[in-house]
Amino acid sequence: MFEKSIYVERRKALMGKMSTGAAEGMRGIALFIGNAEAPAQYRDNCYKFRQDSTWLYYFGIDEPLFAAVIDLDEGKETIFADDVEIGDIIWMGPQPSVQSRAENAGVMNSAPYGALDGVVAAALSAGRPVHFIKPTRYYNKIKLASLLGCSPAEVDGKYSEALTRAIVSMRLVKEQCEIDQIDNACALGYEMHTVARNSVKLGIIEQEIVGAMVGVTLGKGWGESFPTILTQHGETLHNHLHDKVVEPGKLMVIDAGAENNMHYASDFTRTLPTSGKFSQKQKDIYQIVCDCNNLAFSLIKPGITYREVHLRTMHLMLEELRALDIVRGNLDNMVETGVAGLFMPHGLGHNMGLDVHDMEDLGEDLVGYDEDQKRSTQLGLGSLRMARKLVPGNVITNEPGIYFIPALIDKWKAEKADHGFVNYQRLESYYNFGGIRLEDDVLVTADGARLTGPARLPISVKDVEDSMA
Ligand code: GLY
Ligand code: MN
Ligand code: MN
Repeated sequence: MFEKSIYVERRKALMGKMSTGAAEGMRGIALFIGNAEAPAQYRDNCYKFRQDSTWLYYFGIDEPLFAAVIDLDEGKETIFADDVEIGDIIWMGPQPSVQSRAENAGVMNSAPYGALDGVVAAALSAGRPVHFIKPTRYYNKIKLASLLGCSPAEVDGKYSEALTRAIVSMRLVKEQCEIDQIDNACALGYEMHTVARNSVKLGIIEQEIVGAMVGVTLGKGWGESFPTILTQHGETLHNHLHDKVVEPGKLMVIDAGAENNMHYASDFTRTLPTSGKFSQKQKDIYQIVCDCNNLAFSLIKPGITYREVHLRTMHLMLEELRALDIVRGNLDNMVETGVAGLFMPHGLGHNMGLDVHDMEDLGEDLVGYDEDQKRSTQLGLGSLRMARKLVPGNVITNEPGIYFIPALIDKWKAEKADHGFVNYQRLESYYNFGGIRLEDDVLVTADGARLTGPARLPISVKDVEDSMA
């Protein structure tokens, strides 16, 4: 945990944000449900416990079956959980009391978990608002349904947009203590990728490389920040199959990150030539993606919208694809009509913090879009998770990529979706190319940006080849 003042200050700020607008006595309560254990096969064999990120942000207690209520009218905070009994101690050993855990988070009041029911029921019967965020885990949804007296299917519809927006506004801007944790997670991510790069050998199975890199995260952190993507079929964006033999002349996309012990994430992607050297054809496309990554980084500073960074990066991508005669025509028109989506059918990046896609559970549009921004329906731009104007303290990923997806190319060709900009004849020789993605993590600073972590993973053609020699 961070020191208690961090949590105290965060909750104070949250209460301040929730105080505006409502009359005294009608602000209601904010209800936080921490995660429970999730059985894998049976009750006593659970998935590794991962606490809810918003709970971690405001309370820091990394234990299952905790909940909390902040009374927004009285300013009273209470944590609800059960102390262990002898039956638990036999299996888990002695545990700190709930009251002492609450005090570590700066919360003075605690009560048994079961007492939550009466507190929520009293608020509801007094007609007071009960604010909560949309739950992701099934347990949390069922718990909220029982507290609210509705069916689980009705819970999401009752969520508090005001509370969600208040939380988003805080978690989007990282505090120094969080930036330190993200730098730490990036150091682990750097080491993961270094181990992976050193493990690439012709003839081994991809899974062996995955095992070596995941070992780093387990040895020094909590684990992966998301299931590792490592594949010689990088044209499949989230390929989690690792069963192929490493073959010569292929491109291997490695998209992986670490979650450190404080649960902050890193998320890096590199694309390596399995033989240690790129072919000229690979180099041509690789260089475009590398240029796009460098451009995106150079554009990031307070005041620019990340949507603008995405669009200007797509402009460069199309310009360089045009130089290879893969597309033809006016660049502005190509960007406007969304031709880049054929090559990069995803957004340029996303927020990162306690979650690798930070706060995605709170709603992508509430997190990544301002009230005055609308999400595009175009392939690629429509998947942009972060469109907002950047402010110091934002942490985002830059992850341009170029993918040759035969089924998608065939579909666009049949439907003439490219508006005549694509040279399909030239594209034919790229059907077996695969894909390339290059991803760094970036902190927006007062006057620009810096990469997070101890150093940048090798990214230029020369540095990648030298590092594999
Ligand atoms: N974890 C996939 C990505 O967003 O980079
Ligand atoms: Mn990634
Ligand atoms: Mn990412």
